[in-house]
Amino acid sequence: MSKSVTRTFGILTSGGDAPGLNAAIRGVCRTAMDVYGMRVIGFEHGYRGLMENRSRVLQPGELSGILARGGTILGTSREKPFKDKNWITDAGPSAVSAIKDAYKANGLDCLVVLGGNGTNTTGALLAREGLNVIGLPKTIDNDIVETDITFGFHTALTVATDAIDRLHSTASSHNRVMVIEVMGHKAGWLSLYSGVAGGGDVVLIPEIPYDINCIARHLEERALNGKTFSIVVVAEGALSVEESLLDKKTFKKQREAMSSSIGYRVAREIEEETGIESRVTVLGYLQRGGTPVAFDRVLASQFGTAAANMLALGDYGKMVALQDNALVGVSLEKIANKIKTVPIEHRMIETARDVGTCLGD
Ligand code: F6P
Repeated sequence: MSKSVTRTFGILTSGGDAPGLNAAIRGVCRTAMDVYGMRVIGFEHGYRGLMENRSRVLQPGELSGILARGGTILGTSREKPFKDKNWITDAGPSAVSAIKDAYKANGLDCLVVLGGNGTNTTGALLAREGLNVIGLPKTIDNDIVETDITFGFHTALTVATDAIDRLHSTASSHNRVMVIEVMGHKAGWLSLYSGVAGGGDVVLIPEIPYDINCIARHLEERALNGKTFSIVVVAEGALSVEESLLDKKTFKKQREAMSSSIGYRVAREIEEETGIESRVTVLGYLQRGGTPVAFDRVLASQFGTAAANMLALGDYGKMVALQDNALVGVSLEKIANKIKTVPIEHRMIETARDVGTCLGD
């Protein structure tokens, strides 16, 4: 066995699941167990399981046959311990002290958290509380700062692209506008990339507020040029120019009052402006479910083994990241409370425009 500063660590998966989580768990745990002889405690359902000390010692056998499996063998939740004011411990109301107790009771030298922005932000806050934490960047949204890519993104991109491909034939058969709403939270990575990969005629992302008149003129022009159908890719976080001028609170209120998601509104606006029959597909959780594509398996495995090597070195308080093709550790403090949106000058925006895609502006 190689030398290791860490002897026992806890591991959990938190936030929305993403393809590649099991590959990452396998990467961390196999390396930790087989190369360094570490003991691993798996916590169930994210930070909630840690607060409730729902855990088990992970056995090597549990890591077999999971590389290609979707979801997470540990389960997940959206528990945010630093925001949970209802959690009561013997010492009073504190989810954070429950976590500290579980950390101590299990004799942990470090906690490895696999998740998105919220998960890594909580990791940073726990590090401030004195715990050793290492994070891994997981999300289909690809919206974590300091890493070029997150695992889960490529699988969701493949699913969304396949869906756009399939919509082409039915759109052309009926001479319709097909609106497809894609996930991505407040970032446009998934819609932009799937829009380019699938040849979307219009792609709406949160970073570029849309003007329905521009979209309508683009679709009408296509029709005049003999293009009898169109595909419109809409990010779930897309917004109009008018909405972009609202303050955060008013915008949130208006969105909550909407009876359906943004894709339906865009389709209705297109029909009203152009008279072209429009239909909507909300792709939803299909983007997160199922087996990870090869890219995500490889990326998650690499992130996992890198995390195990950081555990061995005692290189705590960091998130594993990919920067210019190199695996690096970035301070969790640099990740906390940030979100990586698509920069307006990003080359993919340029590519989309160059191939004639309307971005709604
Ligand atoms: O962050 C991943 C994601 O799938 C987003 O794209 C989406 O907005 C959100 O999670 C959905 O969250 P939930 O699983 O809580 O419905």
